[in-house]
Amino acid sequence: MADFIRWFDTVDSTNTRLMADKADLADRSVYAAMFQTAGRGQKGNRWESRSGENLTFSILLKPSFLPASEQFILSQVVALGLTDYLLEQGVEATIKWPNDIYAGDRKICGTLIENTLSEGRIAAAVAGIGLNVNQREFDPSLPNPTSLSLQTGREYDVREELPKLLACIFRYYERLDSPYARNGFDAMYLEKLYRRGCWHSFEEMPASDIPTEHRSGRRIEARILGIDTEARLLLELRDGTLRHYGFKEIKYLL
Ligand code: BTN
Repeated sequence: MADFIRWFDTVDSTNTRLMADKADLADRSVYAAMFQTAGRGQKGNRWESRSGENLTFSILLKPSFLPASEQFILSQVVALGLTDYLLEQGVEATIKWPNDIYAGDRKICGTLIENTLSEGRIAAAVAGIGLNVNQREFDPSLPNPTSLSLQTGREYDVREELPKLLACIFRYYERLDSPYARNGFDAMYLEKLYRRGCWHSFEEMPASDIPTEHRSGRRIEARILGIDTEARLLLELRDGTLRHYGFKEIKYLL
């Protein structure tokens, strides 16, 4: 269970607000919003979500036992919880490394996890989640959005859905302090990985500070073998070469 959920009618960003308040709040505190005026996405993008139609919320985690080198495991916890919740709704979702959840070839959810490190440990993490729930029309500039409603044809009460989704995430979070359970997360994550094992097109990006969407790289055909110990994507190229890619070094071509 969440320690507590605070619902905002309107807030700038649940991530920003929870980051600001984190010192005074307990592990598993949740801020959720009907509307965010400055929702933040990956790579400095904005996260737009129609008022009251979707889930936009952030979870404060204080896994002080986790070394800083194991930050990726929080991403696994959140992604596995999200796919479990979606499966409960009848949607077989996959995890598009590193931060998205997909239904088929469409994005249903994005996550933004911001960690605060102290003395080599994770002192706090704010896991922000934007799940498209009831929205059926999206900004045409978004390449491939979808929502729970578009997938199932049903309408949802977002306030009722949040505790169900949190329960799915916390089920994994509670198992984090057992190394045995943590090993199992890798296998489960791999099982749910979007595009794993089949040949697809990717764009290999040269190292640069310019955001990937404003650059072009080399088109490659590759298949995903998994995630390496440094949370990089491991690809096999057609000629059998293995390559490891960090977050900004590879783009999926849809
Ligand atoms: C992405 O796919 O770009 C990540 C989107 C993350 C959006 C969520 S909505 C709740 C939380 N508050 C924010 O400002 N961002 C995250």
